[in-house]
Amino acid sequence: MRSFIAAGCAALLLGAAPSALALASQVAAPTAAAPILTSPEAKDSLTYARPEIARVTHVDLDLAVDFAGQTLTGTAALSVLAQPGAKEIILDSENLGVKKVTDDKGNALKWEIGKADAEKGAPLTVQLNGAQRIIIHYTAQKGASALQWLPPELTAGKQKPFLFSQGQAIHNRSWVPTQDSPGIRQTWTARLVVPEGMRAVMSAIQLTPEGEPAGDGRRAFRFAMDKPVPPYLIALGVGDLAFRSLGERTGVYAEPSMLDRAAYELADTEKMVEVAEKLYGPYRWGRYDVLVLPPAFPYGGMENPVLTFLTPTFITGDRSNVNLVAHELAHSWSGNLVTNATWPDGWLNEGFTSYFENRIQEAMYGRERAVLEEDLDWDVLLRSIEEAGGMSAPETRLRGDDGEESGQIDYIKGAIFLRTLEHTVGREAWDAYLTSYFDRFAFQPQTTAGFLADLRANLIKGDKALEEKLQLDKWAYGTGIPDNAVRQRSAALANVDAQAKAFTAGGPASAIQPTGWTTQEWQRFLNNLPRKQSAARLAELDQAFNLSRSPNAYVRTAWLELAIANRWEPAVPALEEFLNSVGRTLFLRPLYKGLADQGEWGMTIARRAYATARPTYHASTTGSIDAILKQ
Ligand code: BES
Ligand code: ZN
Repeated sequence: MRSFIAAGCAALLLGAAPSALALASQVAAPTAAAPILTSPEAKDSLTYARPEIARVTHVDLDLAVDFAGQTLTGTAALSVLAQPGAKEIILDSENLGVKKVTDDKGNALKWEIGKADAEKGAPLTVQLNGAQRIIIHYTAQKGASALQWLPPELTAGKQKPFLFSQGQAIHNRSWVPTQDSPGIRQTWTARLVVPEGMRAVMSAIQLTPEGEPAGDGRRAFRFAMDKPVPPYLIALGVGDLAFRSLGERTGVYAEPSMLDRAAYELADTEKMVEVAEKLYGPYRWGRYDVLVLPPAFPYGGMENPVLTFLTPTFITGDRSNVNLVAHELAHSWSGNLVTNATWPDGWLNEGFTSYFENRIQEAMYGRERAVLEEDLDWDVLLRSIEEAGGMSAPETRLRGDDGEESGQIDYIKGAIFLRTLEHTVGREAWDAYLTSYFDRFAFQPQTTAGFLADLRANLIKGDKALEEKLQLDKWAYGTGIPDNAVRQRSAALANVDAQAKAFTAGGPASAIQPTGWTTQEWQRFLNNLPRKQSAARLAELDQAFNLSRSPNAYVRTAWLELAIANRWEPAVPALEEFLNSVGRTLFLRPLYKGLADQGEWGMTIARRAYATARPTYHASTTGSIDAILKQ
């Protein structure tokens, strides 16, 4: 433990925040075991790892992908940094079929898988016997929660199957036997063997872009991530993938039939990287590519390093949802560079990123655009707070408790917190601070307390009046929305609001002028209509704008929510088709929730749709839909 303390003191002497004492990973001497937060609030209850005794510093994966059996089989070689005298290392695992564990000379090591917990999986304890590198021979078995195996029917091309992984938050332990905690950073390499004719991509540098022959009609692809990352960011995708360059550092992978539409939507990506760098310092990861997945992908996007994963539903032909790209790109700083130490500190990833996303949008598309998105987010925040049980509900706190679900509150309240800081101290001072923050904590975990301490040390610097104005502790630990919150209203939406008002007052649907409306205007319009609508009025709207069949999934979802709230039968076929074709939780949740709220009428539809759709959803999605339909 001594070298920990030495490292912390060194950081202190160099002028870092007092909280740096807790952030031992800063100057981790090579001999120091477990450079991980030692403060009590950084204890990760979702890992079995005891990094203070022995920790993984590097992972080498060598895995064969078997689509027929839906398994990954091979080895994980882990580099271990152990305290002198440490006898064992504890890893996380979930339903892994472990065959044997050896040291790097092939000598067998004792290992044991403990009792499994439904959420956390089971500890995999290996007796080190002095080994600094251990090799685990294993299979990621069918049903691994991080992996989704799609049959050809669920792809755009309908010819070849598709496989992808989703690690956040604690799914990667179902295919990578390592210490699966966001504070335990690891470098890694991988070799994936896939059927000939398919391409493998990962969240790492490609060493063999075209792959290399691996015998038996198979091809191998090799990858390396030379920067230490939290293990939830290890990700893979395998399918019939084509690539198109978007710029010097940027490009897109998608199924061949999707490539044109994807590239059109993503035309601004290269510029976004430049804009992001101008805001908060260098992009440190090399390339920034994106992978467009089949619609079963459970999220809008996932910030896997050097390779953002995206839902195809963001493609609406008008580039109106590229804030999603801005968001995942921003995670290259907030999240991937400075990482929440534990998941209850998740707002440090998502709130910072949502703020940064909005700044990218402003720099790319102007202030009006940024304010419009900010304004819409306020609507979502207020609705989320209401759903959580109001302004004093514990779920409305940024710093959460273990196991608490705060949904979009982390994102939006977190962004408003940072925007309030910006407005209070001025943009120039704030931007300089935030850039220095990313520098100070690059490639390290961070806690809420650590961030507040750093703010006080490097921005507030003892200014009592400023400290009082900011209400930092209220923002970080309190419920609801503090009274200094900055809120701006979009003039562009005033026009939409006026049209919604006219319709609500009895005006005809034909009088609505949606020319130039993008996703956001439609969302505002539909979400602000009174929830109670007659069948005749709904029919009038649907006839005028074909909303039930809108190719824009955001618009279709907002419309279907309204239809469900009124038990409007004519929308049911379009609803069921939608539930059976898209896996993005953001769309599915409100629809299933809306149906469940309609008693037997809705539950009948929900059960029928879910019976066929459930097998096409990712495990993280079925978890939350199961819970809704159980009520
Ligand atoms: N990291 C999240 C996705 C995520 C969240 C995965 C929680 C697992 C658990 C990603 O960056 C994200 O926030 N995606 C949003 C994008 C939106 C806010 C623009 C999404 O998927 O909708
Ligand atoms: Zn995010």
